[in-house]
Amino acid sequence: MKRSPVWLILLVVSLLMAATFLVGCNPEEGGDDKVTGSVGIVLPTKEEPRWIQDETRFNDLLTEAGYEVEILFSEGDSAKEKENVESLITKGIEVLIICPHDASAAAAAAETAREAGVKVIAYDRLILDTEAVDYYVTFDSIAVGEAQGQYLVDKAEGSGNPLYLYAGGAFDNNAFLFFEGAWNVLQPKIADGTFVIKNSSEAVALQDKATLTRDEMGKIIGQVTTNWDFGDAKSLAEAHLTAASAADKGDVFILAPNDGTARAIADAFAADKDITSYVITGQDAEKASIQYIIDGKQSMTVLKDVRTLVKDAIEAAIAFLEGKTPGATTAYNNGVIDVPAEPSEVITVDADNVKEVIIDSGYWDAKDFTGLE
Ligand code: BGC
Repeated sequence: MKRSPVWLILLVVSLLMAATFLVGCNPEEGGDDKVTGSVGIVLPTKEEPRWIQDETRFNDLLTEAGYEVEILFSEGDSAKEKENVESLITKGIEVLIICPHDASAAAAAAETAREAGVKVIAYDRLILDTEAVDYYVTFDSIAVGEAQGQYLVDKAEGSGNPLYLYAGGAFDNNAFLFFEGAWNVLQPKIADGTFVIKNSSEAVALQDKATLTRDEMGKIIGQVTTNWDFGDAKSLAEAHLTAASAADKGDVFILAPNDGTARAIADAFAADKDITSYVITGQDAEKASIQYIIDGKQSMTVLKDVRTLVKDAIEAAIAFLEGKTPGATTAYNNGVIDVPAEPSEVITVDADNVKEVIIDSGYWDAKDFTGLE
């Protein structure tokens, strides 16, 4: 019997629909396949627990949703980062979620992605000096610095308290935002004599200025940068302690930019016989620092709930895949354009609330720690 062409077309169409359904459906998870293969993630380094946290949280959420997304690490090297981006483009991604190692150097990778028609989401760290950034998923980094500064202010009594300042890597735009936030809170308390800066002549020279330009911050950061490196943080702290007199020690206050560097700096200060006590900041709620807080070796950390950041990043990626624009409440200037963003809030954690904020909330498991009450 001769079939009419209409039957043939209907048959082909239904076969195609069935095939599409089978490919798209994930029987185990019930996830939808929009993200699978369409999104690539690039993180800066495996050397710091912070980015392993992000990898783990991405995997948790993606597995739960039934997505498969490739996560590549750049080994703290901009050339490797660009290779990673190129390899993801070759694999056909439509959205790139990237946390740059070096804010300005990453512009080239972002532009390559843009030229290939890929949407670029800057993750946690902004990419500077390029138009090729579509969205920025971030925490409120100024608020992180302000929380650190406020903690030191709240713990200080009287006047003349020795203050030691440390900063993140100048290649990371966040290092400036954290420092700016801390300076907002600390500067009035330096100006009124509560604190006396002990380890940066540039900061002393600028201590009467409430607001610093980027160049001015750059000068201070240049003297007190840890490069986000634990080894550098340790040697810098040791050098400062060697240079300082016993009178510059005693009960001291230390602005440390994140948890990894805080532990290194805290260890150096704890080993100095002229240090009677220290209050030291941090951020990231890394497991090792939660233990340090329980043990009284680090004073505080700032919880930036990575689960929220990861969720925001995936939602932004899906919005782009659907041809929509992710929501924004503000924008960050990257030197060329204002990049839309919706920054997430942060929480101060110390010995008083660590159990409630970190353990009871399910952020980390109690079994990973000792000495919890
Ligand atoms: C991140 C911090 C992190 C630091 C070092 C910053 O950009 O916001 O959470 O500790 O980089 O990797």
